[in-house]
Amino acid sequence: MTLESINQLIRNRRTVFTEFYSQEEISDEVVNSILENATWAPTHKKTQPWRFIVYRSLESRQALSEMLRDNYRANTPEADQTEIKEKKISGRPLQAPLAIAIILCKNEDSGLPEWEEVAALACAVQNMYLTCTGTGLGAFWSTPGLATKERAFYNLAENEKCLGLFYAGKLKEQSPEFGSTRKDWKEVAQIL
Ligand SMILES: Cc1cc2nc3c(=O)[nH]c(=O)nc-3n(C[C@H](O)[C@H](O)[C@H](O)COP(=O)(O)O)c2cc1C
Repeated sequence: MTLESINQLIRNRRTVFTEFYSQEEISDEVVNSILENATWAPTHKKTQPWRFIVYRSLESRQALSEMLRDNYRANTPEADQTEIKEKKISGRPLQAPLAIAIILCKNEDSGLPEWEEVAALACAVQNMYLTCTGTGLGAFWSTPGLATKERAFYNLAENEKCLGLFYAGKLKEQSPEFGSTRKDWKEVAQIL
């Protein structure tokens, strides 16, 4: 690995929304690497406060889509509901060949504040993102407020919370360039 290749991987990572994904299946090797690399994130006291539910079969993605749709209908005031928004939310698991529910498993005995466990999980998601970038996949961490409340669907234990869905897929051939910008690092770093 070179500094150049590390810089490239990190700076080329982009959030790419599911409408730009092709339906092409992602290989077992890549899916397994996304999941295994997630578990190599740093965790205070090595609590490893996570579990991942992988929606890969069409049947499981359809069930996820229906849950998102029902949640939207049940939790959005009727006057605010639109067909476009409903289709956008429920369509994502069908556009993406891979959806992964990000589950926070708080360790009650660790004495750690919740934010440290959430931070560890965010590091895990970054590992997933980078694995996708390195293997040519688009990826998107989606945090629909309504879905995170769906405890029964994810079969969450008392100490667990869903922190969103991670979608990934190969890009369609006609996808645009996905650019992004950041503040100059010199504005946010103080070197003493
Ligand atoms: C914790 C977290 C939650 C996010 N949730 C959403 C979301 O619900 N909807 C969305 O459009 N983007 C979401 N994003 C993606 C951000 O919009 C995206 O990272 C940001 O626009 C910067 O683009 P980049 O990832 O290409 O650098 C989320 C990102 C993070 C870190």
